[in-house]
Amino acid sequence: MKNILVTGGAGFIGSHLVRLLVNKYPEYRIVNMDVLTYAGNLVNLKDIEDKENYEFVKCDICDFEKVQKVFEDYQIESVIHLAAESHVDRSIKDPFSFAQTNVMGTLSLLQAAKHAWDGNFEDKLFYHVSTDEVYGSLGKEGFFLETTAYDPHSPYSASKASSDHFVRAFHDTYGLPTVISNCSNNYGSFQFPEKLIPLFINNICNNKPLPVYGKGDNIRDWLYVDDHARAIDVIFHKGKHGDTYNIGGFNEWTNIDLIKVMIKTVDRLLGREEGESEKLITYVTDRAGHDLRYAIDSTKLKNELGWEPSLQFEEGIEKTVKWYLENKEWMDNITSGEYEKYYKEMYK
Ligand code: NAD
Ligand code: DAU
Repeated sequence: MKNILVTGGAGFIGSHLVRLLVNKYPEYRIVNMDVLTYAGNLVNLKDIEDKENYEFVKCDICDFEKVQKVFEDYQIESVIHLAAESHVDRSIKDPFSFAQTNVMGTLSLLQAAKHAWDGNFEDKLFYHVSTDEVYGSLGKEGFFLETTAYDPHSPYSASKASSDHFVRAFHDTYGLPTVISNCSNNYGSFQFPEKLIPLFINNICNNKPLPVYGKGDNIRDWLYVDDHARAIDVIFHKGKHGDTYNIGGFNEWTNIDLIKVMIKTVDRLLGREEGESEKLITYVTDRAGHDLRYAIDSTKLKNELGWEPSLQFEEGIEKTVKWYLENKEWMDNITSGEYEKYYKEMYK
């Protein structure tokens, strides 16, 4: 068996990736290391939790000694690192926890890998999952390329940029085999309802105001989460060590247009009149340092490794809305308790 450590596997993207790897590669043992913050939820992995090639370890990636022990106990040969504080709005309120988890946590994993592998790097890989936000913000034209200079604006993106630099530094200084991918905005099932799409679907269902930041004219490039997981699988197996790959769907939407698609879809599926929920749109104070536009050029990934998105956006958003409507219990469990406190504080 090949022993692969996936960090943050109980979160949104991590749970989709763990499911893909566990089902597709019975010859791999997938060790999911997650400390289960508010964003981590083992219910996301209910369908595979009893599989023989899956293990869960509750561990904070910042706890260097414990991380080292996991490397030893499970004879870890590769790492796919996703664990992070991931929400921009939270980073604006509490930048320290972002530096701690995203920078120090990544460093702790890099050091543990370096110690455990001790110069024997054959068949080893440290794969770091990062974001397009490290590149900053685009104007109306152009795309982020792998060569675009880093220009992060939020504490979240600054912490992810810093972690990317540490990963490259370990490659260049110690020869650690690494690879990095920078992906655009993901959407799909099991996403924590602090992010635009699940938050708005839930609010539309419950006839709650839809808090649109600024004028709603910011642009994001949306990719279906399973396509991101497929891209990670391809890069993990075929990516060139020391290299970087951008992942995106060439699928740009202004927030307000995307919100109208969500309203239309939810209203139709709930049998409401078309556009009935547009009255819920509420323009609120803009996010501080709000990046105007993200757009990824993923041509390198397509040309070199043959990956392309599999789903058209219309199909992806329909599947996503249906999933949230059919999994009300999942949403209700998450939105009780602590979440309400966060919501009141955030949108007061
Ligand atoms: P998420 O917030 O849904 O999940 C993060 C997971 O990490 C949770 O399970 C949480 O419990 C775990 N975690 C947090 N701190 C930890 C710690 N100290 N030790 C161990 N586990 C810890 O995040 P996501 O949206 O699934 O994002 C996953 C990764 O992908 C992140 O690195 C993020 O930067 C990156 N990314 C996300 C997107 C996106 O659109 N969501 C796009 C590109 C890149
Ligand atoms: O680009 C990749 C990044 O995408 C990931 O690295 C991050 O982890 C992920 O959170 C996401 O960041 P964004 O800030 O783009 O996503 P979010 O869902 O928070 O917001 C999407 C857009 O919607 C953004 O322009 C802000 C806006 N928005 C968001 C919320 C939560 C609103 O207008 N109102 C809201 O209530």
